[in-house]
Amino acid sequence: MDTLSRRRLLTYSAIAAGTGLAGCVGRIRESAGSPTDGEFPEPRYGDPDREYHLTATESEVTVAPDESHSDWTYDGEYPGPEIRAVEGERVRVAVENDLPEETTVHWHGLVLDGDNAMDGVPGVTQAAIEPGDEFVYEFDAEPAGTHWYHSHVGLQLDRELLGPLIIEEREPHVEYDSEFTLILDEHLLGEPRVVSSGGRGGGMGGMGGGFPDAPPAEGTLVNGLLPEEPATVDIEAGDRIRLRLINAAAAATYRVGIDNHELMVTHTDGPAVDPVAVDTLDIGMGERYDVIVEADSPGTWPIRVTPVDSSEPAGRALLAYEQSDGTVSEGKVGSRRLQLSDLIAVDSLETYRGTPDRTVDLTLSGGHMGGRGDEWTINGQAYPDSDPIYIEEGEHVRFRMLNRSPMRHPMHLHGHHFRVGDVLKDTVVVPGHMGQVTIDFVAENPGMWFFHCHHLYHMETGMAREVRYRHE
Ligand code: C2O
Ligand code: CU
Repeated sequence: MDTLSRRRLLTYSAIAAGTGLAGCVGRIRESAGSPTDGEFPEPRYGDPDREYHLTATESEVTVAPDESHSDWTYDGEYPGPEIRAVEGERVRVAVENDLPEETTVHWHGLVLDGDNAMDGVPGVTQAAIEPGDEFVYEFDAEPAGTHWYHSHVGLQLDRELLGPLIIEEREPHVEYDSEFTLILDEHLLGEPRVVSSGGRGGGMGGMGGGFPDAPPAEGTLVNGLLPEEPATVDIEAGDRIRLRLINAAAAATYRVGIDNHELMVTHTDGPAVDPVAVDTLDIGMGERYDVIVEADSPGTWPIRVTPVDSSEPAGRALLAYEQSDGTVSEGKVGSRRLQLSDLIAVDSLETYRGTPDRTVDLTLSGGHMGGRGDEWTINGQAYPDSDPIYIEEGEHVRFRMLNRSPMRHPMHLHGHHFRVGDVLKDTVVVPGHMGQVTIDFVAENPGMWFFHCHHLYHMETGMAREVRYRHE
């Protein structure tokens, strides 16, 4: 068998293995059907292809051999259990709330076509799940890609209420032998709370500007682990491994690079892109990148995850070749950094081009620069004291964003993927200091969809809007 068909075979058996795995994980209880009080929509289809059960609960989280703390997790695991399906399948997830507060789950990256009520935004798409209650989410696994799920209530994301949501494509456009998911996050001790800062990464520290921000993190976690005993990605010389990178941090942009290895970027926020080779990439809060790493440099090497806007300690995982003795080598990380303009979608983006039917100008601002000092704003309004953005079904909509603040804002639109440059994404970073980004999407998924900065503390202090389809 030649290498190509061996790879293909391995890819397909990996999918088959995934299928079997999800079968065992389907732990939904007979009694855990849909709520009966009529408050929530009934599941629309008969039996889903995959069933999962998640319990949001208080538990002990261990980030290093001698370091654990009590926090909120799904099923006592951090990151939460992987939810995996094949594109096009129907997935049902029963979420039980064992927390002392209400909660919801948002499926970041899925478009939820026709399933707005499953989007998990409290007060917008559903009533939050009360302590002791359960809510059954059900949706189509679309589009394929590296996605994630997380709480959408208050600052709960900055507890540990998050996990990977992997939708396998039926026919990947690239060949690889195995895959591994890396979830990047901050190590925050103590309760998440809004603080006022001079602005991390704003270059304005000491100017007395007050911006609502996250408390400083103690370090960087990769798959829930500090660098001293890191997550290990096992690899065999000659193999190609697909790394699924998810930035689940509330407030940190990370630069990712692997000593002595290239990153071949193949997907962002799900959709496939023409493979492009770089040495590092920056990943904003909520964004995902899939990269293929070719195992052509035996040894054990650091996968470096460095905060871009702060001096908080870096995190790491290890890329460990089977034959190596485990001693971690220091190599080189080159200087080619991924630019948005390097990315070209594999699928045609024709429907997202041309003259839009509606153009909406959105100025991102906050702190004392356009607000009361304790809020972040879009066109001067802080959510929930803000007007919805109305759109109509069938329109080609354009958002033109201008960032009048010094911080970058990773803006995320629910329920749609949008074109930015030559690629489709659901989250895009608008650079600070008058950075401008234009996104185009097709309004074909009626409902009320949240649009917000994925810096959790910016969202929480106002940088959010509802995008509503107008009914005739
Ligand atoms: Cu991942 Cu509204 O967010
Ligand atoms: Cu922001």
